[in-house]
Amino acid sequence: MVANTRTNLELNMDRMIIRGGNRLEGAVTISGAKNAALPLVAASLLAQGETTWHNVPGLGDVRTMAKLLEVLGAKIEEGDRVLKVDTSNIDTFEAPYRLVKTMRASVLVLGPLVARYGRARVSLPGGCAIGARPIDMHLRGLEAMGAEISLDKGYVTARANRLRGAKIVFRQPTVGGTENLMMAAALAEGRTTIENAAREPEIEELARVLNKMGANVEGAGTAYISIEGVQELHPIEHAIIPDRIETGTFMVAAAMTGGDVVLENCLLEHNSAVVTKLEGTGAKVEAVEQGLRVQGTGQLHTVDITTQPYPGFPTDMQAQFMALATQAVGDSVITESIFENRFMHVSELARMGAQIVVNGRVAVIRGRPGTLQGTTVMATDLRASACLVLAALVAENTTEILRVYHLDRGYDQLEVKMRRLGADIERVSGPPFPTTNAE
Ligand code: EPZ
Repeated sequence: MVANTRTNLELNMDRMIIRGGNRLEGAVTISGAKNAALPLVAASLLAQGETTWHNVPGLGDVRTMAKLLEVLGAKIEEGDRVLKVDTSNIDTFEAPYRLVKTMRASVLVLGPLVARYGRARVSLPGGCAIGARPIDMHLRGLEAMGAEISLDKGYVTARANRLRGAKIVFRQPTVGGTENLMMAAALAEGRTTIENAAREPEIEELARVLNKMGANVEGAGTAYISIEGVQELHPIEHAIIPDRIETGTFMVAAAMTGGDVVLENCLLEHNSAVVTKLEGTGAKVEAVEQGLRVQGTGQLHTVDITTQPYPGFPTDMQAQFMALATQAVGDSVITESIFENRFMHVSELARMGAQIVVNGRVAVIRGRPGTLQGTTVMATDLRASACLVLAALVAENTTEILRVYHLDRGYDQLEVKMRRLGADIERVSGPPFPTTNAE
């Protein structure tokens, strides 16, 4: 992970210029998982001393989490895909709005801070482009464990002498809620059980790390997790699992461009639902020694998707499959059941000529292969920006994507990796040229 030397304003002006029509061929190395790195770096707070993370993705969100820990008093050392976090001098327990508003996963410091220091003041994350995304289940769980929770001026304050084990039942699976409460329970007195827990691979990864630190977590990866609290946890070194959403994104890119791509350092078992759906479109997916090989086989078939909690089809792959569906012959139906506003990419795809009808949480994509036209489009959120890159790879002429800082939050040098596979893509800094059709 290389520290960013450019200012945020400069980064915010970056654009992507993509000329469509190239097949992707060759090999790409998948980076460490963003949605594992964020809870893991927060979990550093649970142990006294220096924890070292390896295979850290170079992402905006990971840099924000590291910055947040620095604000709390941790000493941070960044290297090439390495992050060292020394918590010996944590002396502040407040996650400020200016950081939390840029990355809602900042709320993952809540559980560790209350568990280790008995106090935390974390800004409520507020809404985001894809939905309201409340944290009520996080807070109810901490209350059940004995924390006193109060809300004032947009901040959550949590206090507890020592958290105690509790029986927690979620009304629906929550990834962040499961992670926050697993971390809190690791240092609580007694046993905590979490029912209807999230089952994502990132939850299992967090349990592996907590147990490596000396915790007693059982059942991660199932809907029933049990944690026996301990007095203290010790710092460790750990290499972060590969990013299954980056994996899925490159799989779709290979299928859409009729390409032949080997994805290195990825785990087939973390992508079963995506692989099944991709094979349904006619793409060929096979496990190879380095990871996965994906071949596009010409005509793409339609695909019907309903996003679900893991192991169902991931909501984080919904936008990418919508781009693919525009290249299939016929109607595909995509239902977004997790977030209430995760179709922001639809209007941008429509600007490229896609025919998509949205009714509430259901989108019908009238696929017409080879009919997308390059133009200037705007990224609105992380996975929507990935969708636009994929659409641009197969569009006629040139596409300019504005606000690619959304992309940088969750993809490590996407344009470098795509270019190495043969895509005609470049990142351009500075404001859009007046000549572009960016009006
Ligand atoms: C995590 O977000 C991921 N982020 C998201 O990835 C992912 O889309 C999401 O899980 C679902 O898989 C990280 O891991 C950092 P949730 P999280 O709590 O934890 C509702 C990406 O693109 N809910 O599982 O915030 C919530 O509104 C990002 O990488 C409550 O109502 O998601 C949503 O509708 C986007 N109350 C649903 O549950 C709560 O207290 C699932 O949310 C918590 C959640």
